[in-house]
Amino acid sequence: MAVMGSSLARNMARHGYRVALYDHWVDQTQKMMAAHGGEGAFVPAGTVEDFVTSLERPRRIVLLVKAGDVTDQVIDSLLPHLEEGDIVVDGGNSYYEDTRRREAKLRELGFHFVGAGISGGEVGALEGPSIMPGGSKESYEALGPLLEDISAHVDGEPCCAYIGTDGAGHFVKMVHNGIEYADMQFIGEAYELLKAAGLSLEEMAQVFETWNTGDLDSYLIEITSQVLRQVDARTGAPLIDVIVDAAGMKGTGTWTVQSALTLGIPVNAIAEAVFARAVSSHPELREHAQAALAGPDRTIEVTGDARQQLIDDIRDALWASKVVAYAQGLDEIRSAGKEYGWEINVAEVAKIWRDGCIIRAKLLERIRSEYAANNLVTLLEAPSVKSELERCQGAWRRVIAAAVGAGVPVPGFSAAVAYYDMARAPRVNAALTQGLRDFFGAHTYRRIDDEGSFHTLWSGDRSEVKVD
Ligand code: 6PG
Repeated sequence: MAVMGSSLARNMARHGYRVALYDHWVDQTQKMMAAHGGEGAFVPAGTVEDFVTSLERPRRIVLLVKAGDVTDQVIDSLLPHLEEGDIVVDGGNSYYEDTRRREAKLRELGFHFVGAGISGGEVGALEGPSIMPGGSKESYEALGPLLEDISAHVDGEPCCAYIGTDGAGHFVKMVHNGIEYADMQFIGEAYELLKAAGLSLEEMAQVFETWNTGDLDSYLIEITSQVLRQVDARTGAPLIDVIVDAAGMKGTGTWTVQSALTLGIPVNAIAEAVFARAVSSHPELREHAQAALAGPDRTIEVTGDARQQLIDDIRDALWASKVVAYAQGLDEIRSAGKEYGWEINVAEVAKIWRDGCIIRAKLLERIRSEYAANNLVTLLEAPSVKSELERCQGAWRRVIAAAVGAGVPVPGFSAAVAYYDMARAPRVNAALTQGLRDFFGAHTYRRIDDEGSFHTLWSGDRSEVKVD
């Protein structure tokens, strides 16, 4: 009955469901009832047993607890009271491998376990989040209508759809968060560049506001203007200038990158967003580097038309980089789907991200329709995306060159364009890597004109031998 749990319960009650409430700390439930008890049909329970037995069968129990050991403890406390076919839903940001483990354990006992990613924060939970449920198809039949009801809607369509078995829902939510990290990093880089070009905070807020009326239209761009305009009540200074520049994280972005590494899927733009937070939160490194390292002073001299051109270029660089982060995240989802047998429908994922979640953006409708209409390996090849990338790429490269020249760090933009260039290159530098590996470690290489593996006798007569 903390913020997310009570908001979701209120959302269900507002949709006409009778909702039983339980919290380990009874006063939490009492507080929730005192503040919102009048909003719907709530049935507060004092014990786990009362809570479970008050539910209709199959029981649909939604947990909103801190991801980790607590989730296991709460599940264990429910087990003695469950009956065959009951459904336990974990709505937290759990690691998908934990979800797979829990699902297997509960399935063995005759219960359903659904790892459901829920995005949208407190307001989303109350007014309509985006929901990404995994677990068995059978559990979705009992659960789906309720989750769809309480989710956000776009043109009457719910931002909730069955994702795939066991950990699929939490995997997709994890990648959502990885994209969220990248989105924020790109916005941060755009902000740094606008600052380098001499824009005031109010001018920047106006720029983001304008961008939010075009292709960049998204929740994160929208709230950027609000954060930039916020004045600190204590000092009268802009709030942004009194916030310590060290970004925190709970770890879902890191998991996205770790899982991509395990799957062998390149998500370098998302990784740079995670590493940018790591640099920001490494005071020792920053202190020593600030004292030791020289370089340009992060100003970009522009006036008149050139200034507006730079602003427009930054917009295009931001859009193109954002597309790359989505392409990487969706590639990771698609690959994980194959690896784990989830059969994930990428168009459906884009569809349920169109509203309710933190990365909601106009771009997601384009992504949905492109995946629905084409059999895409990468979002970058989608007809309307590739033509727009082609249009943006001059600006993208100009912005990165200007940033590097002025000493403004743009790790996200740079990683995104490097991915674009590597992916489209007919040959990449890996042939040399293979040659070097073969030289020092006889790791062998494949030839473009023959089958099998080969090794050059580097320390002998340099003739080539076929290895298998
Ligand atoms: C959401 C958010 C939410 C939260 C994350 C990110 O989709 O509603 O992603 O899950 O903001 O925990 O947190 P960190 O930035 O702290 O990792």
